Amino acid sequence: DKGDYEYFMLKEIYEQPKTIEETFRGRLKSDYSEIVLGGLMNVFPKIEAAQRIIIIGCGTSWHAALIAEYMMEEYARVPVEVEYASEFRYRKPVINSNDVVILISQSGETADTLAALHLAKEKGATVIGICNVVGSTLARETDAGVYTHAGVEIGVASTKAFTAQVTVLTMIALKLARRKGTIDPEEYKALVKELAAIPEKGRAILEGNEHIKRIAEKYYEAVNALYLGRGYLFPVALEGALKLKEISYVHAEGYAAGEMKHGPIALVDDNLPVVVVAPQDDYYEKVVSNIQEIKARKGNVIAIVTEGDTGLKELANDVIEIPKSHPAVAPLLSVIPLQLLAYHIALLKGCNVDQPRNLAKSVTVE
Ligand code: M6R
Repeated sequence: DKGDYEYFMLKEIYEQPKTIEETFRGRLKSDYSEIVLGGLMNVFPKIEAAQRIIIIGCGTSWHAALIAEYMMEEYARVPVEVEYASEFRYRKPVINSNDVVILISQSGETADTLAALHLAKEKGATVIGICNVVGSTLARETDAGVYTHAGVEIGVASTKAFTAQVTVLTMIALKLARRKGTIDPEEYKALVKELAAIPEKGRAILEGNEHIKRIAEKYYEAVNALYLGRGYLFPVALEGALKLKEISYVHAEGYAAGEMKHGPIALVDDNLPVVVVAPQDDYYEKVVSNIQEIKARKGNVIAIVTEGDTGLKELANDVIEIPKSHPAVAPLLSVIPLQLLAYHIALLKGCNVDQPRNLAKSVTVE
């Protein structure tokens, strides 16, 4: 039931403050001292002992994996590899019984992800599933797992499942770091608190929907778009571009902002909207200089900025403000305006946002 919403996608975008909360509910202790993941209890010693962790998924789930790579390496100091399931399963990867393989899938039925699971299992790795659909094949065939509690996702474009996946991965990364003693206890607590504050900040972002719609009205006729971000926000740039291309059929590319000079800058002219995820974090100065380079070539910059950033308001053509947050949890916030931007652009172009052409909700064949 779509309720008051015109499309499931919009409903699901709006549900995110609630679904993120559902996903960490009962798993974060109220004094932020502990994270409880019952489903992983038996395998945590294995995760702790792992020489490396391999995270596998497709599409949006693969983007969630990339965010986890950054977080697990930063805080839990364990090497992480992220793989497309479709590549992993065919490329004769080296896997052994000390490896922990995490498979991410909203549906738990994606054919390539299940094949990757079977391969990892065959090689003796510990296999962990993160999925949204209760009782799905992935949930049944993994050694252990954590459900995302996003509720049924109907829109083909994944939105609330993505933020729920990132929420689960954040909890796993922080718990692992705490157990290994690789994170300062105060920082751990601060980060758990930051995660708990996401739903409220998400609500504030959703209040900007009309503003985002007006930005969409300015740019919806563009035939290409570029999305840039650095650090934890590089995967968010990839996800923003995927959302736009799948539902509005506008060609969009996501890039690490630092890679711009190595090719994509050649595309910049006054017809190219460039969405830059640019909150005030450690990368800020570098991202601002990327924006200057785009402006110097007459590109149109839509910047996702920290609330109250007056500097970028002047420099960029349009800004969308998001509340301040810790960089490691910033993806959960900055992806929301990108989902809304894609949604409005697709609507203006007359596309069926819930059921884009050529796509299936769950890719159960190769
Ligand atoms: O159910 P899964 O998470 O395994 O699905 C993976 C991809 O097919 C999925 O994320 C796809 O890329 C979405 N349409 C993205 O919005």
